[in-house]
Amino acid sequence: MITDSLTLDIANGINDRSARGIATAIGRMISSGELVIGAQLPTVRQLSRKLGVSPTTVGEAWRSLAEVGAIETLGRNGSFVRQPTGPGGPRRYRQVAADSDHRGHFALDLSTGTPDSSLLPDLRTALARVSSQTLTISYLDHPVLPQLEEALRHRWPFVPEELTVVDGAMDALDRIAQVVVRLGDRVIVEHPTFPPLLDLLEKIGADVIGVEVDAEGMNVEALTAALEQKPTALFLQPRAQNPTGVTMSAQRAQHIANAIVASGHSESITIIEDDHAGDIAVGELNSIGNHLPTRTVHIRSYSKSHGPDLRLAAVGGAGDVISAAANRRLLGPGWSSRILQAVLLELLDDQATLESLSHARAEYARRRQEVVQILSERNVFSTGTDGINLWVRVSDERSALMTLAAQGIGAAPGTPFLVNTHPDSMRLTVGLLGATSDIEATAQAIASAATTSGSGRRGQR
Ligand SMILES: Cc1ncc(COP(=O)(O)O)c(C=O)c1O
Repeated sequence: MITDSLTLDIANGINDRSARGIATAIGRMISSGELVIGAQLPTVRQLSRKLGVSPTTVGEAWRSLAEVGAIETLGRNGSFVRQPTGPGGPRRYRQVAADSDHRGHFALDLSTGTPDSSLLPDLRTALARVSSQTLTISYLDHPVLPQLEEALRHRWPFVPEELTVVDGAMDALDRIAQVVVRLGDRVIVEHPTFPPLLDLLEKIGADVIGVEVDAEGMNVEALTAALEQKPTALFLQPRAQNPTGVTMSAQRAQHIANAIVASGHSESITIIEDDHAGDIAVGELNSIGNHLPTRTVHIRSYSKSHGPDLRLAAVGGAGDVISAAANRRLLGPGWSSRILQAVLLELLDDQATLESLSHARAEYARRRQEVVQILSERNVFSTGTDGINLWVRVSDERSALMTLAAQGIGAAPGTPFLVNTHPDSMRLTVGLLGATSDIEATAQAIASAATTSGSGRRGQR
């Protein structure tokens, strides 16, 4: 119960009685410790009466405080000062690296999730062609080179309301999540999924729901149940899902879109599709944006195909979300290097680049299939029909990693990819098994490690 004297103390600390003034004054009281974590705030009615303003004004102040995560409103039980979200950081992401727990340096590190640099297109000709151009006239220029935007729109899986270019898919995920997800929001992700996405959502303070992935993509029955919890966002990877290597079928994309519409929340949910594999994926791109173009934000990375240091991804789809992210970015870096955008534009239709991409796709598929074949002969279950990674079922995660480490092979532990319980697993970037690797011997080592039993202790989630 809130006393009159507390309401009076709070009211006395507020000079500007606009909604914004009330919110900033309360924000200052929280930062200074005058209002402690867990403290109950006066009701809208109590404070509005004391300040002589309308309840709508105080309600608006409460809403903006809740939006930035300073307070939480528990309906009739009142509003309370919230525990701020922790410093966050790439906790799970760091655990993925094979040497993160000092298992040592590896002759063959398959934990990285990175493309084979020998399969990336040669950038020299394109770099030489763009170096003399003057590409930026004003800091407020449109962030995307017009010809690049045209080329990207032409390649987009659906007609995007807006399209922009950012510094890679991770930058895109970060910027879109900041627009769409607020503290306490429910958010659906694939299970298992990309650890940095889980770190990012944890940092924002989202309530994450993991939905299992099968050979065709997200399980629709589980998704339907998750949609009942009114999520604000659904994150998925349409191709070469990291870590499972699954590409979503056309039928599954249709069923997922149907489930979203049937849930009655299609107007309040944003679907964020991370096509991180892009041009190295062999599977067809089946976007939810073909069905729900105004609610889908599709991300297309050029890191795996054209090079992680081009650091470029295109983001296109739902206009309200993409405009909000692009406008916010104008208060930061504003745009991604136009020099790099011009390089990408040069590469998109370049014959040598197209041939290099086609070779890379075939080569990644060959390496993956060779490993899968040997694993299946040894009765080791793995998934991965696209991209550079394999998700391998193991008897014991820790023992498997240690067994491989003893042979100089690094693998990513499965635990950082998890939201729910899941059989012990590890992720191996078998796309890195290049000309100098003995694929057969490596696959045999993986199979032996997968069947090594141990203490049953898992890595920390
Ligand atoms: C699912 C997923 N999203 C995003 C990324 C990062 O993409 P980018 O290099 O474009 O930031 C990766 C890289 O492995 C990934 O697997």
